[in-house]
Amino acid sequence: MRIVHVVGARPQFVKLAVLVRAVDADAGLDWQQVVVHTGQHYDESMSARFFEEFGLAPPARNLAVGSGPHGAQTGQMLAGLETAFAELAPDLVIVYGDTNSTLAGALAAVKMGIPVAHVEAGLRSFNRAMPEEINRVATDHVADLLLAPTREALAHLEREGLAARSHWVGDVMADAVLRASDRARRDSEARVRLGLAGRRFALATVHRAQATAPAVLAGLLQALDECARDFDALVLPLHPRTRAAIQALDPDWQAPPGWIVCEPLGHADMLALVQDAAVVLTDSGGLQKEAFLLGTPCVTLREETEWTESVLAGGNVVAGLAPGSVVNALHRLLACAPSRSALAALAADCYGQGQAGARIVAALIAFREGRDDD
Ligand code: UD1
Repeated sequence: MRIVHVVGARPQFVKLAVLVRAVDADAGLDWQQVVVHTGQHYDESMSARFFEEFGLAPPARNLAVGSGPHGAQTGQMLAGLETAFAELAPDLVIVYGDTNSTLAGALAAVKMGIPVAHVEAGLRSFNRAMPEEINRVATDHVADLLLAPTREALAHLEREGLAARSHWVGDVMADAVLRASDRARRDSEARVRLGLAGRRFALATVHRAQATAPAVLAGLLQALDECARDFDALVLPLHPRTRAAIQALDPDWQAPPGWIVCEPLGHADMLALVQDAAVVLTDSGGLQKEAFLLGTPCVTLREETEWTESVLAGGNVVAGLAPGSVVNALHRLLACAPSRSALAALAADCYGQGQAGARIVAALIAFREGRDDD
Protein backbone atom coordinates (compact mmCIF):
# COMPACT_ATOMS: atom_id res chain seq x y z
CA MET A 1 0.00 0.00 0.00
CA ARG A 2 1.24 3.48 -0.82
CA ILE A 3 0.16 6.13 1.66
CA VAL A 4 0.42 9.81 0.85
CA HIS A 5 0.41 12.07 3.92
CA VAL A 6 -0.72 15.62 3.12
CA VAL A 7 0.59 18.31 5.48
CA GLY A 8 1.22 22.03 5.25
CA ALA A 9 1.01 23.82 8.59
CA ARG A 10 3.14 23.62 11.71
CA PRO A 11 0.93 21.48 13.99
CA GLN A 12 0.55 18.90 11.25
CA PHE A 13 4.27 18.09 11.26
CA VAL A 14 4.03 16.98 14.90
CA LYS A 15 1.08 14.68 14.10
CA LEU A 16 2.73 13.37 10.91
CA ALA A 17 5.86 12.34 12.82
CA VAL A 18 3.82 10.21 15.23
CA LEU A 19 2.08 8.33 12.46
CA VAL A 20 5.14 7.84 10.23
CA ARG A 21 6.92 6.37 13.25
CA ALA A 22 3.98 4.11 14.15
CA VAL A 23 3.80 2.69 10.61
CA ASP A 24 7.57 2.19 10.51
CA ALA A 25 7.46 0.47 13.91
CA ASP A 26 5.17 -2.27 12.59
CA ALA A 27 7.64 -4.67 11.02
CA GLY A 28 4.85 -6.68 9.37
CA LEU A 29 3.80 -3.78 7.11
CA ASP A 30 5.35 -3.13 3.74
CA TRP A 31 3.59 0.21 3.30
CA GLN A 32 5.34 2.95 1.39
CA GLN A 33 4.94 6.39 2.95
CA VAL A 34 5.20 9.58 0.89
CA VAL A 35 4.85 13.09 2.29
CA VAL A 36 3.37 15.92 0.22
CA HIS A 37 3.76 19.41 1.74
CA THR A 38 1.38 22.03 0.42
CA GLY A 39 3.75 24.86 1.35
CA GLN A 40 1.10 26.63 3.46
CA HIS A 41 3.81 27.26 6.06
CA TYR A 42 7.14 28.06 4.49
CA ASP A 43 9.32 29.94 7.01
CA GLU A 44 12.19 27.77 8.22
CA SER A 45 11.01 28.20 11.81
CA MET A 46 7.47 27.10 10.91
CA SER A 47 8.31 24.16 8.65
CA ALA A 48 11.77 22.72 7.77
CA ARG A 49 12.94 22.88 11.38
CA PHE A 50 10.24 20.37 12.40
CA PHE A 51 11.20 17.82 9.74
CA GLU A 52 14.77 17.97 11.07
CA GLU A 53 13.72 17.87 14.71
CA PHE A 54 11.53 14.79 14.20
CA GLY A 55 14.05 13.01 11.95
CA LEU A 56 11.59 13.06 9.04
CA ALA A 57 12.87 12.92 5.47
CA PRO A 58 12.13 16.17 3.62
CA PRO A 59 8.76 15.97 1.83
CA ALA A 60 8.80 14.20 -1.54
CA ARG A 61 6.90 17.16 -2.98
CA ASN A 62 6.45 20.72 -1.83
CA LEU A 63 3.71 22.57 -3.69
CA ALA A 64 5.03 25.93 -2.40
CA VAL A 65 1.54 27.39 -2.31
CA GLY A 66 2.42 30.01 0.32
CA SER A 67 0.07 32.57 1.83
CA GLY A 68 -3.05 34.03 0.30
CA PRO A 69 -6.78 34.51 0.73
CA HIS A 70 -8.48 31.26 1.77
CA GLY A 71 -10.13 30.51 -1.55
CA ALA A 72 -7.01 31.16 -3.61
CA GLN A 73 -4.76 29.30 -1.18
CA THR A 74 -7.06 26.26 -1.00
CA GLY A 75 -7.65 26.32 -4.76
CA GLN A 76 -3.94 26.30 -5.54
CA MET A 77 -3.49 23.40 -3.17
CA LEU A 78 -6.29 21.47 -4.87
CA ALA A 79 -4.73 21.90 -8.30
CA GLY A 80 -1.25 20.95 -7.07
CA LEU A 81 -2.49 17.94 -5.09
CA GLU A 82 -4.48 16.62 -8.03
CA THR A 83 -1.32 16.57 -10.14
CA ALA A 84 0.73 15.05 -7.31
CA PHE A 85 -1.85 12.30 -6.67
CA ALA A 86 -2.06 11.51 -10.40
CA GLU A 87 1.70 10.95 -10.43
CA LEU A 88 2.05 9.22 -7.05
CA ALA A 89 -1.07 6.99 -7.39
CA PRO A 90 -1.72 6.63 -3.64
CA ASP A 91 -3.86 3.80 -2.27
CA LEU A 92 -4.74 6.02 0.68
CA VAL A 93 -4.38 9.71 1.51
CA ILE A 94 -4.05 10.80 5.14
CA VAL A 95 -4.93 14.34 6.21
CA TYR A 96 -4.47 15.91 9.64
CA GLY A 97 -6.37 18.42 11.73
CA ASP A 98 -8.32 21.37 10.40
CA THR A 99 -6.24 23.62 8.19
CA ASN A 100 -6.76 24.63 4.59
CA SER A 101 -4.21 21.92 3.70
CA THR A 102 -6.46 19.32 5.40
CA LEU A 103 -9.51 20.31 3.38
CA ALA A 104 -7.58 20.52 0.11
CA GLY A 105 -5.99 17.09 0.65
CA ALA A 106 -9.34 15.46 1.42
CA LEU A 107 -11.21 17.10 -1.46
CA ALA A 108 -8.53 16.44 -4.07
CA ALA A 109 -8.37 12.77 -3.07
CA VAL A 110 -12.10 11.99 -2.91
CA LYS A 111 -12.68 13.62 -6.27
CA MET A 112 -10.11 11.21 -7.72
CA GLY A 113 -11.70 8.20 -5.99
CA ILE A 114 -8.78 7.80 -3.58
CA PRO A 115 -9.77 6.81 -0.01
CA VAL A 116 -9.04 9.41 2.66
CA ALA A 117 -8.34 9.00 6.37
CA HIS A 118 -8.75 12.03 8.65
CA VAL A 119 -6.59 12.15 11.77
CA GLU A 120 -8.19 14.34 14.46
CA ALA A 121 -11.72 13.90 13.14
CA GLY A 122 -14.88 15.01 14.93
CA LEU A 123 -13.66 18.11 16.74
CA ARG A 124 -16.23 20.88 16.79
CA SER A 125 -16.16 24.43 18.12
CA PHE A 126 -19.65 25.12 16.69
CA ASN A 127 -18.31 28.50 15.64
CA ARG A 128 -18.77 28.64 11.89
CA ALA A 129 -16.92 31.94 11.65
CA MET A 130 -13.69 29.98 12.20
CA PRO A 131 -12.11 28.78 8.96
CA GLU A 132 -10.91 25.71 10.88
CA GLU A 133 -14.51 24.72 11.76
CA ILE A 134 -15.54 24.73 8.11
CA ASN A 135 -12.43 22.73 7.22
CA ARG A 136 -13.17 20.10 9.89
CA VAL A 137 -16.84 19.65 9.09
CA ALA A 138 -16.26 19.45 5.33
CA THR A 139 -13.29 17.08 5.70
CA ASP A 140 -15.20 14.71 8.00
CA HIS A 141 -18.13 14.53 5.62
CA VAL A 142 -16.03 13.59 2.59
CA ALA A 143 -13.43 11.33 4.24
CA ASP A 144 -13.75 7.54 4.35
CA LEU A 145 -12.09 6.82 7.68
CA LEU A 146 -12.55 9.17 10.64
CA LEU A 147 -10.04 8.84 13.45
CA ALA A 148 -11.36 10.62 16.53
CA PRO A 149 -8.98 11.78 19.26
CA THR A 150 -11.57 11.98 22.07
CA ARG A 151 -14.87 10.36 23.07
CA GLU A 152 -16.57 13.71 22.59
CA ALA A 153 -15.24 13.97 19.03
CA LEU A 154 -16.58 10.48 18.34
CA ALA A 155 -19.99 11.50 19.72
CA HIS A 156 -20.07 14.52 17.36
CA LEU A 157 -19.39 12.24 14.40
CA GLU A 158 -22.12 9.84 15.51
CA ARG A 159 -24.61 12.71 15.81
CA GLU A 160 -23.75 13.78 12.26
CA GLY A 161 -24.54 10.31 10.92
CA LEU A 162 -20.90 9.32 10.43
CA ALA A 163 -20.65 6.50 13.01
CA ALA A 164 -19.97 3.74 10.47
CA ARG A 165 -16.77 5.44 9.33
CA SER A 166 -15.58 6.58 12.76
CA HIS A 167 -13.19 5.14 15.35
CA TRP A 168 -11.91 6.45 18.65
CA VAL A 169 -8.12 6.16 18.58
CA GLY A 170 -6.87 8.74 21.11
CA ASP A 171 -4.81 11.79 20.35
CA VAL A 172 -1.57 11.60 18.37
CA MET A 173 -0.36 14.76 20.10
CA ALA A 174 -0.54 12.93 23.42
CA ASP A 175 1.79 10.33 21.90
CA ALA A 176 4.16 13.11 20.86
CA VAL A 177 4.09 14.83 24.27
CA LEU A 178 4.41 11.67 26.35
CA ARG A 179 7.30 10.51 24.20
CA ALA A 180 9.24 13.76 24.05
CA SER A 181 8.59 15.68 27.26
CA ASP A 182 11.19 14.07 29.55
CA ARG A 183 13.90 14.48 26.96
CA ALA A 184 12.76 18.03 26.21
CA ARG A 185 13.01 19.00 29.87
CA ARG A 186 16.50 17.49 30.09
CA ASP A 187 17.97 18.66 26.80
CA SER A 188 16.26 21.91 25.82
CA GLU A 189 18.36 25.02 26.28
CA ALA A 190 15.44 27.37 25.67
CA ARG A 191 15.05 28.37 29.34
CA VAL A 192 18.68 29.38 29.61
CA ARG A 193 18.75 30.97 26.16
CA LEU A 194 15.71 33.10 27.00
CA GLY A 195 16.99 34.00 30.48
CA LEU A 196 14.21 32.13 32.29
CA ALA A 197 16.22 29.95 34.67
CA GLY A 198 14.84 30.34 38.19
CA ARG A 199 12.13 32.78 37.11
CA ARG A 200 8.36 32.34 37.39
CA PHE A 201 6.96 32.96 33.94
CA ALA A 202 3.82 32.85 31.81
CA LEU A 203 3.98 31.48 28.26
CA ALA A 204 1.71 33.08 25.66
CA THR A 205 0.96 32.41 21.98
CA VAL A 206 -1.48 34.14 19.63
CA HIS A 207 -1.99 33.43 15.95
CA ARG A 208 -5.65 33.02 14.96
CA ALA A 209 -7.50 35.33 12.63
CA GLN A 210 -9.97 36.33 15.39
CA ALA A 211 -7.21 37.28 17.83
CA THR A 212 -5.01 39.12 15.34
CA ALA A 213 -7.76 41.41 13.98
CA PRO A 214 -6.51 44.96 14.73
CA ALA A 215 -9.30 45.97 17.13
CA VAL A 216 -8.94 42.76 19.13
CA LEU A 217 -5.16 42.53 19.09
CA ALA A 218 -4.62 45.93 20.70
CA GLY A 219 -6.79 44.96 23.68
CA LEU A 220 -5.24 41.53 23.89
CA LEU A 221 -1.71 42.95 24.09
CA GLN A 222 -2.86 45.18 26.95
CA ALA A 223 -4.48 42.23 28.71
CA LEU A 224 -1.30 40.17 28.33
CA ASP A 225 0.67 43.03 29.81
CA GLU A 226 -1.64 43.13 32.81
CA CYS A 227 -1.26 39.36 33.18
CA ALA A 228 2.53 39.72 32.89
CA ARG A 229 2.60 41.71 36.14
CA ASP A 230 1.78 38.54 38.10
CA PHE A 231 5.03 36.93 36.91
CA ASP A 232 8.76 37.60 36.60
CA ALA A 233 8.40 37.32 32.82
CA LEU A 234 5.93 36.71 30.00
CA VAL A 235 7.33 34.75 27.05
CA LEU A 236 5.72 35.31 23.66
CA PRO A 237 7.06 33.27 20.71
CA LEU A 238 5.68 35.19 17.73
CA HIS A 239 3.85 33.50 14.84
CA PRO A 240 4.64 35.37 11.59
CA ARG A 241 0.97 36.35 11.20
CA THR A 242 1.00 37.97 14.64
CA ARG A 243 4.32 39.68 14.07
CA ALA A 244 2.88 41.22 10.90
CA ALA A 245 -0.36 42.19 12.67
CA ILE A 246 1.52 43.94 15.50
CA GLN A 247 3.68 45.77 12.97
CA ALA A 248 0.57 46.91 11.10
CA LEU A 249 -1.03 48.07 14.35
CA ASP A 250 1.99 50.02 15.51
CA PRO A 251 5.24 50.01 13.52
CA ASP A 252 7.07 51.33 16.61
CA TRP A 253 5.71 48.69 18.99
CA GLN A 254 8.20 47.66 21.66
CA ALA A 255 7.68 44.72 23.97
CA PRO A 256 6.79 46.07 27.44
CA PRO A 257 9.22 45.49 30.33
CA GLY A 258 9.14 41.90 31.57
CA TRP A 259 8.16 40.49 28.17
CA ILE A 260 10.46 38.13 26.29
CA VAL A 261 9.44 38.12 22.63
CA CYS A 262 11.13 35.50 20.46
CA GLU A 263 10.87 33.68 17.14
CA PRO A 264 8.60 30.60 16.90
CA LEU A 265 10.16 27.74 18.87
CA GLY A 266 10.84 24.11 17.97
CA HIS A 267 8.68 21.42 19.55
CA ALA A 268 11.13 20.26 22.25
CA ASP A 269 11.81 23.85 23.32
CA MET A 270 8.09 24.54 23.48
CA LEU A 271 7.43 21.42 25.57
CA ALA A 272 10.24 22.39 27.94
CA LEU A 273 8.76 25.86 28.43
CA VAL A 274 5.22 24.53 28.88
CA GLN A 275 6.49 22.22 31.64
CA ASP A 276 8.13 25.07 33.50
CA ALA A 277 5.60 27.82 32.88
CA ALA A 278 3.32 28.87 35.75
CA VAL A 279 0.54 29.28 33.20
CA VAL A 280 -0.04 29.12 29.43
CA LEU A 281 -2.17 31.76 27.68
CA THR A 282 -3.01 30.73 24.12
CA ASP A 283 -5.44 30.62 21.22
CA SER A 284 -3.83 27.42 19.91
CA GLY A 285 -5.62 24.08 20.14
CA GLY A 286 -2.42 22.06 20.28
CA LEU A 287 -0.90 24.13 23.06
CA GLN A 288 -4.05 23.82 25.21
CA LYS A 289 -3.65 20.07 25.03
CA GLU A 290 0.09 20.11 25.63
CA ALA A 291 -0.46 22.26 28.72
CA PHE A 292 -3.12 19.83 30.01
CA LEU A 293 -0.94 16.77 29.37
CA LEU A 294 1.97 18.42 31.17
CA GLY A 295 -0.23 19.64 34.04
CA THR A 296 0.18 23.37 33.38
CA PRO A 297 -2.92 25.56 33.86
CA CYS A 298 -4.12 27.27 30.68
CA VAL A 299 -6.12 30.38 29.81
CA THR A 300 -7.66 29.96 26.35
CA LEU A 301 -7.80 33.20 24.36
CA ARG A 302 -10.90 32.25 22.39
CA GLU A 303 -14.65 32.25 22.83
CA GLU A 304 -14.89 28.44 22.76
CA THR A 305 -12.71 25.36 22.54
CA GLU A 306 -12.91 21.98 20.85
CA TRP A 307 -10.80 20.50 23.66
CA THR A 308 -13.40 20.64 26.42
CA GLU A 309 -11.80 17.92 28.59
CA SER A 310 -9.25 20.29 30.09
CA VAL A 311 -12.00 22.80 30.94
CA LEU A 312 -14.05 20.12 32.71
CA ALA A 313 -10.91 19.08 34.60
CA GLY A 314 -10.51 22.63 35.92
CA GLY A 315 -7.16 23.18 34.19
CA ASN A 316 -8.34 25.45 31.38
CA VAL A 317 -10.50 28.58 31.45
CA VAL A 318 -11.99 29.75 28.16
CA ALA A 319 -11.56 33.49 28.62
CA GLY A 320 -12.73 34.98 25.34
CA LEU A 321 -10.79 37.90 23.91
CA ALA A 322 -12.08 40.83 25.98
CA PRO A 323 -9.17 42.22 28.04
CA GLY A 324 -11.04 42.19 31.37
CA SER A 325 -12.14 38.60 31.01
CA VAL A 326 -8.60 37.43 30.16
CA VAL A 327 -7.22 38.96 33.36
CA ASN A 328 -10.14 37.61 35.44
CA ALA A 329 -9.72 34.15 33.97
CA LEU A 330 -6.03 34.15 34.86
CA HIS A 331 -6.73 35.10 38.47
CA ARG A 332 -9.53 32.55 38.78
CA LEU A 333 -7.32 29.83 37.38
CA LEU A 334 -4.31 30.63 39.55
CA ALA A 335 -6.57 30.55 42.62
CA CYS A 336 -8.11 27.14 42.03
CA ALA A 337 -6.45 25.00 39.34
CA PRO A 338 -5.93 21.37 40.43
CA SER A 339 -2.37 20.17 41.03
CA ARG A 340 -0.10 19.53 38.04
CA SER A 341 0.02 15.81 38.65
CA ALA A 342 -3.80 15.60 38.91
CA LEU A 343 -4.22 17.50 35.63
CA ALA A 344 -1.63 15.40 33.80
CA ALA A 345 -3.25 12.16 34.99
CA LEU A 346 -6.71 13.30 33.82
CA ALA A 347 -5.27 14.35 30.46
CA ALA A 348 -3.62 10.98 29.90
CA ASP A 349 -7.02 9.36 30.57
CA CYS A 350 -8.79 11.62 28.06
CA TYR A 351 -6.26 11.38 25.24
CA GLY A 352 -5.26 7.75 25.30
CA GLN A 353 -1.95 7.23 27.15
CA GLY A 354 0.24 7.58 24.06
CA GLN A 355 -1.20 4.69 22.03
CA ALA A 356 -2.98 6.70 19.31
CA GLY A 357 -0.37 6.05 16.61
CA ALA A 358 -0.58 2.28 17.10
CA ARG A 359 -4.40 2.40 17.18
CA ILE A 360 -4.47 4.36 13.93
CA VAL A 361 -2.25 1.76 12.26
CA ALA A 362 -4.67 -0.95 13.45
CA ALA A 363 -7.63 1.04 12.06
CA LEU A 364 -5.82 1.48 8.72
CA ILE A 365 -5.13 -2.26 8.50
CA ALA A 366 -8.81 -3.05 9.24
CA PHE A 367 -9.92 -0.43 6.71
CA ARG A 368 -7.70 -1.91 4.02
CA GLU A 369 -8.86 -5.44 4.76
CA GLY A 370 -12.48 -4.27 4.61
CA ARG A 371 -11.91 -2.77 1.17
CA ASP A 372 -10.08 -5.86 -0.08
CA ASP A 373 -13.15 -7.94 0.92
CA ASP A 374 -15.56 -5.70 -1.02
C1 UD1 B 1 -2.90 27.98 10.00
C2 UD1 B 1 -4.22 27.22 10.19
C3 UD1 B 1 -4.53 27.11 11.67
C4 UD1 B 1 -3.37 26.54 12.45
C5 UD1 B 1 -2.13 27.37 12.16
C6 UD1 B 1 -0.91 26.91 12.90
C7 UD1 B 1 -5.86 27.48 8.37
C8 UD1 B 1 -7.14 28.12 7.98
N1 UD1 B 1 -5.34 27.91 9.53
O1 UD1 B 1 -3.11 29.30 10.47
O2 UD1 B 1 -5.66 26.28 11.84
O3 UD1 B 1 -3.66 26.57 13.83
O4 UD1 B 1 -1.88 27.35 10.76
O5 UD1 B 1 0.11 27.86 12.76
O6 UD1 B 1 -5.36 26.66 7.65
N2 UD1 B 1 3.09 33.23 7.47
C9 UD1 B 1 4.42 33.44 7.25
N3 UD1 B 1 5.23 32.37 7.18
C10 UD1 B 1 4.79 31.10 7.31
C11 UD1 B 1 3.41 30.89 7.52
C12 UD1 B 1 2.57 31.97 7.60
O7 UD1 B 1 4.89 34.56 7.15
O8 UD1 B 1 5.60 30.16 7.25
C13 UD1 B 1 2.19 34.40 7.60
C14 UD1 B 1 1.69 34.97 6.30
O9 UD1 B 1 1.63 36.35 6.45
C15 UD1 B 1 0.26 34.44 6.22
C16 UD1 B 1 -0.14 34.36 7.67
O10 UD1 B 1 1.07 34.05 8.37
O11 UD1 B 1 -0.54 35.24 5.46
C17 UD1 B 1 -1.17 33.34 7.99
O12 UD1 B 1 -0.74 32.03 7.57
P1 UD1 B 1 -1.84 30.90 7.20
O13 UD1 B 1 -1.15 29.65 6.88
O14 UD1 B 1 -2.83 31.42 6.26
O15 UD1 B 1 -2.61 30.71 8.56
P2 UD1 B 1 -2.11 30.48 10.04
O16 UD1 B 1 -2.48 31.69 10.82
O17 UD1 B 1 -0.70 30.02 10.15
